[in-house]
Amino acid sequence: METQVNINPAFSQVLRERHSVRKYDSSRKMSNEEINDLLNDAILAPSSSNLQPWRFIVITDQALKEQLLPIAFNQQQVVESSAIIAVLGDLEAYRNVNKIWDSAVEAGLATPEVRDMMVENSRNTYSNFSREKQKEIALVDGGLVSMQLMLAAKAKGYDTVAMGGYDAEKFREMFQIPPRYATVMLIAVGHAAVPGRQTSRLPLEDIASYNGFKGQD
Ligand SMILES: Cc1cc2nc3c(=O)[nH]c(=O)nc-3n(C[C@H](O)[C@H](O)[C@H](O)COP(=O)(O)O)c2cc1C
Repeated sequence: METQVNINPAFSQVLRERHSVRKYDSSRKMSNEEINDLLNDAILAPSSSNLQPWRFIVITDQALKEQLLPIAFNQQQVVESSAIIAVLGDLEAYRNVNKIWDSAVEAGLATPEVRDMMVENSRNTYSNFSREKQKEIALVDGGLVSMQLMLAAKAKGYDTVAMGGYDAEKFREMFQIPPRYATVMLIAVGHAAVPGRQTSRLPLEDIASYNGFKGQD
């Protein structure tokens, strides 16, 4: 007999009501505290070995947003939203492994012995990965934190749009981002002036198969 799982209706609603919003009410700004709350929700996302490679640049300064506008191909949400959150990924996140595991020990979540083993394992493993592999991990984890940020924002009454439409090289120059960090995406966040429109999805049978791969030729 099939059992019905206990669905959280509020979460389901957040999933269904999140749409990319491109028109923002520029008169309603989010405070740094509100943005930090959002980031604190987002960073609960999982990451490879809990290395948390995500880094954020929160851009709220209007002059900086104006400077960013042409770099993001004049997408108006850059200047009209409350903030642009640039999500970056640290290719050398393993360098922080000590700090991560020390905090787990302090919180009583791990023993010093487990910490020492995990620190050594992670450092050895991740430092020996190719640059390409390190980047892949940073991008995957960066995608997870970005999604979580967008859903957390929706749950708190804000709207967002992810943005890959920007000149990453010029963006790097603008903020002097060292090669160690990959750019993942920009996320505009704020109060919607015009609701996002609904978009369609491919039917599940086209994209999912059980117990074997069903791709296209
Ligand atoms: C990685 C990524 C990059 C995107 N880049 C842009 C962008 O530069 N500008 C834009 O208006 N929308 C951008 N989008 C939003 C997509 O167009 C949108 O998510 C998609 O059409 C589905 O609509 P929905 O978000 O309302 O469900 C991006 C989305 C993702 C995930």
